[in-house]
Amino acid sequence: MAKFLVQKSAPLRGEVKISGSKNAVLPIMAAALLTEEKCVIKDVPALRDVDVMCRLLESLGASVDKELENNRVSIESSGEIVYEAPFDLVKMMRASILVLGALLIRTGRAIIHLPGGCAIGKRPVELHLKGLRALGVKIDEEQLNRGIVDATVDKLEGNTIYLDFPSVGATEVIIMAAALAEGTTVLENAAQEPEIVDLANFLNKMGARIKGAGTDTIKIEGVSKLKGVSHHVIPDRIEAGTFMVGAAMTGGNVLIKNILPNHLKAVIAKLRECGAYIEMTDEGMIVRGDMGPLKSTDIKTLPYPGFPTDMQSPFMALLTVANGPSVVIETVFENRFMHVGEFNRMGANIKTDGNCAIIPGGKPLTGAQVVATDLRAGAAVVLTGLVADGTTEVSQIYHVDRGYENFVDKLRALGANIMRVDE
Ligand code: UD1
Repeated sequence: MAKFLVQKSAPLRGEVKISGSKNAVLPIMAAALLTEEKCVIKDVPALRDVDVMCRLLESLGASVDKELENNRVSIESSGEIVYEAPFDLVKMMRASILVLGALLIRTGRAIIHLPGGCAIGKRPVELHLKGLRALGVKIDEEQLNRGIVDATVDKLEGNTIYLDFPSVGATEVIIMAAALAEGTTVLENAAQEPEIVDLANFLNKMGARIKGAGTDTIKIEGVSKLKGVSHHVIPDRIEAGTFMVGAAMTGGNVLIKNILPNHLKAVIAKLRECGAYIEMTDEGMIVRGDMGPLKSTDIKTLPYPGFPTDMQSPFMALLTVANGPSVVIETVFENRFMHVGEFNRMGANIKTDGNCAIIPGGKPLTGAQVVATDLRAGAAVVLTGLVADGTTEVSQIYHVDRGYENFVDKLRALGANIMRVDE
């Protein structure tokens, strides 16, 4: 099994270029199934999850030209589409559920075994199904009780749908299905994440009529056909946020290129509260943590535009070295504090109660053997290893491979003492 060996390092210095967004590219790749024509997707990050999505689309009958060394994927599905997604791929990645809408549009049926992914809570799909039912889809309830989504539809028809929670995945699946449904769909309490906007932009280029993406009400007028297009994926705001935190907590000075500050308002605000210096220039964002000791702050995760749950563990890494106590409240996932035990192995002394964590801050940290308990937590323990005395050994790093392109190379270029060892 591969591991990261991380040593206490000098402050991060230099420049880093952010890759295309994982959470934007996965739904966009699924949406490419909505047309028989070829779609070319650019700025695609070379990640394990992207690889799984390529294999999933191929197994469904699409021809996928994967040039990840050039960050480009072409998808064409002019032939017959298979409606059952293979379990061995679906169980590797929760985002496999994103093909649900496209399979229904192309074949009138979809069978998907309920997905795996990060072990951060139940992550059900009832909102995706509620939306699809409203569009006329029938779900086999007996199969659903066994953990299998078996959906059929004769004709998708637009409707008004209220999401009880602004689920990102449910919003994406419903937009894709509604794009080719008959009539108008209004999606209320929709997720507002930038990745939803990127998906809507992609679909609108294809010929869809979607308005309001990025707000809580999305209106989709169904069209009869979509065409093949080419599209650049937005930069990954979570990767960017991770490097921002890394620059600040190591007392560094880093220029972050290919970054959209509008997508990072909550993270910028919180880093400034902690005393980091952040400035946008023509070349990118400068983040400095060398202007004085870091102060503590409190964070509460929320759907966008609130503080992103995916930044909770990297930010907690910073709070372990801030001066004074901080409180972190997780409201999006019910089980997203597994990294606390790993920080505590390094001396952070964090206490949790339900969805609330108290970080005393400023405790002496020492390297330890730790586990990447999920994708973002893996990056978070690496950052902590950069400021802890001695060596930190991080295992289960396949989680990090799911979501950070060239993580080790990018960190090493900033002066981090990290290496990957394959045992
Ligand atoms: C997406 C992101 C993930 C991010 C998350 C929240 C991708 C590929 N993944 O995941 O990185 O952490 O958004 O920003 O884009 N929920 C329900 N019922 C449902 C659907 C969701 O209760 O039918 C709950 C989930 O259990 C979870 C919360 O809603 O507690 C957020 O889930 P959701 O927004 O759907 O996240 P994902 O789309 O899975």
